[in-house]
Amino acid sequence: MNVELLRDVRVAPSILASDFARLGEQVAEVMDAGARVIHVDVMDGHFVPPISIGALIVDALAGQVHDAGGVIDVHLMVERPERLVADFASAGADSITVHFEATPHVHYALHAVREAGCNAGVALNPGTPATAVDALAGAYDLLLCMTVDPGWGGQPYLPGSDAKVAALRERIPAGTPIEVDGGIGPATAGPAAAGGATLFVAGSSIFGADDPAAAYRAVAAAAGAV
Ligand code: DX5
Ligand code: ZN
Repeated sequence: MNVELLRDVRVAPSILASDFARLGEQVAEVMDAGARVIHVDVMDGHFVPPISIGALIVDALAGQVHDAGGVIDVHLMVERPERLVADFASAGADSITVHFEATPHVHYALHAVREAGCNAGVALNPGTPATAVDALAGAYDLLLCMTVDPGWGGQPYLPGSDAKVAALRERIPAGTPIEVDGGIGPATAGPAAAGGATLFVAGSSIFGADDPAAAYRAVAAAAGAV
């Protein structure tokens, strides 16, 4: 595990937009291009309408990603995420992000993630005010600011997201990673970075492109990523 790299400025390709029939190959393509954070979107059909993938896929990818010096960044869009933390940790997740809106016991859920040996992330939906983080001081390792409503790839970056990121950056300790997720591509990564985002999840702008490696490099350049 090399979780320190979650504190760099990095682009995290989201495999949600990849070709699942060639998943290992697609991950290798972006890692060869420099990616070291692989974002895995887990959807339960309740917190968000679609069902996507679960811990089996993390287990299938963990060896490849870790051997290449990377980490697996799991984004749980599920109700009561605390119930699933142990499964994802034992499958090989390095960070696990839970939604503020998905459980009445968010401190408990974040504590469970750390107890399982992973970095704990908390995600805020676009409609959740930045002030929500105030009650969570010290309880998380990274903050995910949704820049679309969760549930689907390929949506446009919501106007107002740059200001939300900037408002969050002012409220949290310096050095805390802020991850942005949704509609991130060469045109939106720069403004999000200016607001203080440091981790840039990108799905369709990378895996929807003819050349995912070149697309990865274009988003990384726009984000000022390593
Ligand atoms: C959306 C997911 C995202 C998704 C982003 O609910 O959390 O990680 O993969 O997809 P794009 O980059 O296509 O907006
Ligand atoms: Zn995500």
